[in-house]
Amino acid sequence: MQRVVAKPGKDKKIRNFYPVLFADELAASPQEAGVVQVYSSENQFLGVGYYHPASRAAVRVYRFDEGALDKAFFLQRFARAQARRAGLGSFYRLVHAEADGLPGLVVDRFGEVLVVQVRNQAMEALREYWLPALVAIAQPVGIYERSDVESRRQEGLVERVGPLYGQVPSLLEVDEDGLVFHIPLALAQKTGYYLDQRENRRRFEAMVQPGERVLDVYSYVGAFALRAARKGAYVLAVDKDLEALGVLDRTAYRFGLRVDIRQGDAVEVLESLAKSHTPPFQQVLLDPPTLVKRPEELPRVKRLLVDLLRPALRLLARQGWLWLSSCAYYLGVEALLEVTRRAAADEGRRLRVHAVYHNPPDHPWSLHIPETLYLKTVLFQDDPL
Ligand SMILES: C[S@@+](CC[C@H](N)C(=O)[O-])C[C@H]1O[C@@H](n2cnc3c(N)ncnc32)[C@H](O)[C@@H]1O
Repeated sequence: MQRVVAKPGKDKKIRNFYPVLFADELAASPQEAGVVQVYSSENQFLGVGYYHPASRAAVRVYRFDEGALDKAFFLQRFARAQARRAGLGSFYRLVHAEADGLPGLVVDRFGEVLVVQVRNQAMEALREYWLPALVAIAQPVGIYERSDVESRRQEGLVERVGPLYGQVPSLLEVDEDGLVFHIPLALAQKTGYYLDQRENRRRFEAMVQPGERVLDVYSYVGAFALRAARKGAYVLAVDKDLEALGVLDRTAYRFGLRVDIRQGDAVEVLESLAKSHTPPFQQVLLDPPTLVKRPEELPRVKRLLVDLLRPALRLLARQGWLWLSSCAYYLGVEALLEVTRRAAADEGRRLRVHAVYHNPPDHPWSLHIPETLYLKTVLFQDDPL
């Protein structure tokens, strides 16, 4: 096996289970891409990874003991990932990349169908080992690939989208606590469905009261909205994705539920609702997409969030609940509190923080990899004196 050598001091990252070494953190590396043993500058073994000279993250470390990155290795990793999800039903994230010891691989399980996303050169190169191991452990009827993320382009990889194994239906069937969504795989966002908000959706449904008014902004297929509708609330859902709103509409129809829909940009729709003196909403959900991918984007995104929060607060009923989420690592809880404080000051509203929620257990948060804490939801309540 080829070797890379970490620069002095950089071995600590690997010893502390952080699975990346950047090109400028290497004292020695081979000419060719491939599986490598990682050594410290004192010639101590640190782990086994994959080296790719064109990647900024030149080495991704997959194991911290000696051994191959072969089918047996992946069988063990997938078996462990599956065992950790015991009791979660048959819809969950089965592999959450580095948090499951598999940097660059995401696998969502939707019953008998898996949707996979390959994000880096390493998992692309090791496909012949991990794919049969995944099939052996998860035993799906079909696997669909949605490898069309930005990180792939940064790695110099082309998109790969389409059926990968077995029988893949064109409509993904997602059953979440009795609400069944039929989502066209080819047109869906990410891996098809936002499994990571399921626990928040359960918390939300438990709090919604019949007759309340609910505003679900960035609704996607309406997984929050339809839960409120089945509790007997009036619901207005807002999203810019017409396909997703079509799924929402058809799901509502199948279940005999009513959800009003507005397609458009969230800030524009909220501004126009606030201006038209729409009656206030007891629950307002703001679940935007990943707005920040680099730290330098943060100031701009904070201003956008203040612009979003101001009309949202005008639409929020007295003592109403505001659910504000961020799925961007760089947009943390402190930033969410700051933008809400700024918007509340502009609108003369007083809020209290009721709770802060994080990624659910099927999207694990590794202590050693701060980036794995990506989902934050702050639940505010309007708190007039
Ligand atoms: C994180 S997803 C929301 C997930 C959803 N709340 C759920 O539980 O399934 C973000 C959504 O924001 C929508 N979106 C992105 N930019 C938008 C914009 N400017 N205005 C309105 N919706 C937007 C996307 O279409 C996507 O459905």
